[in-house]
Amino acid sequence: MEENTLHLHEKVKKILYSLTGITLSENKDIMIANRLHKLKRDTKFNGDLDALLQDISKGEFTSEFINSFTTNKTHFFREDFHFLDLKNRVLPTFKSKEIKMYCSASSTGEEPYSMAMTVFEAQEENSCKINASIIATDIDTNVLQYAANGVYRFSKSSKEFPEWIKPQKYFKRRVNKTLASEEILIKIKPELQKLVSFQVMNLNDPEYPFKSEQFDVVFCRNVLIYFSSEDQNAILKKLFKHLKMGGTLYLGHSENPHDLINYVERVGQNIFIKTKEI
Ligand SMILES: C[S@@+](CC[C@H](N)C(=O)[O-])C[C@H]1O[C@@H](n2cnc3c(N)ncnc32)[C@H](O)[C@@H]1O
Repeated sequence: MEENTLHLHEKVKKILYSLTGITLSENKDIMIANRLHKLKRDTKFNGDLDALLQDISKGEFTSEFINSFTTNKTHFFREDFHFLDLKNRVLPTFKSKEIKMYCSASSTGEEPYSMAMTVFEAQEENSCKINASIIATDIDTNVLQYAANGVYRFSKSSKEFPEWIKPQKYFKRRVNKTLASEEILIKIKPELQKLVSFQVMNLNDPEYPFKSEQFDVVFCRNVLIYFSSEDQNAILKKLFKHLKMGGTLYLGHSENPHDLINYVERVGQNIFIKTKEI
């Protein structure tokens, strides 16, 4: 790789780390090059990439930069055993009660809406009302806007929904016809949307805007993988403060609780109950 490209990529990594805490691994050069060029097109920046990065380090185009370098892969009911655990173990203990849940890297919204659908299923199975609210945050303002809109492409071949969920209960179907193709769009129904509020938040911030022990349930899945081990540990400790004693923490399949291990009980695959305050 040319000296100048190397220098640009190092600069991207430095800025990205300082703004988000995301650590890009060594083999990400093609990804960095593609995203930098797209960022230049999207911002309609006239100068070269070096000048663009200089402006970004001075505070210009910050959201555009962050939004370009986040990875937002998600889908409804990803790692569906977590939602089954929420439905079968956690939610029945909140019959006629209030439950506050937090989704800490909600991306385009499929994860918090899956949590909301799970609440509706639990209410039906237990013939009860559960007063649930879900705060969903992400650092990427584009995905938050998409999530709040609540419109998704539906593919008949997709296996996103487990057999215990009937998507037609939770979505309105829309057909988007163009001359070339026809796609099915699904829109989250308002009763589900009402449960979720989306906010921008950086997990790398020194403190989070929540009360201590605010949440009964915290989802922190498939986001820690973008941070160094030390930063993962720091994020988990901050999140833990906002989880109630006896509350449940769900982590992604390749993530681990680091120093929290002595303060939790493992009750399933990356499912932890808070047993002690740190
Ligand atoms: C791969 S998605 C995971 C989405 C979802 N949790 C799931 O498991 O399907 C990772 C998300 O983390 C968000 N993210 C990355 N760094 C972040 C930070 N510092 N603060 C908050 N969110 C962040 C990204 O914008 C992205 O939407």
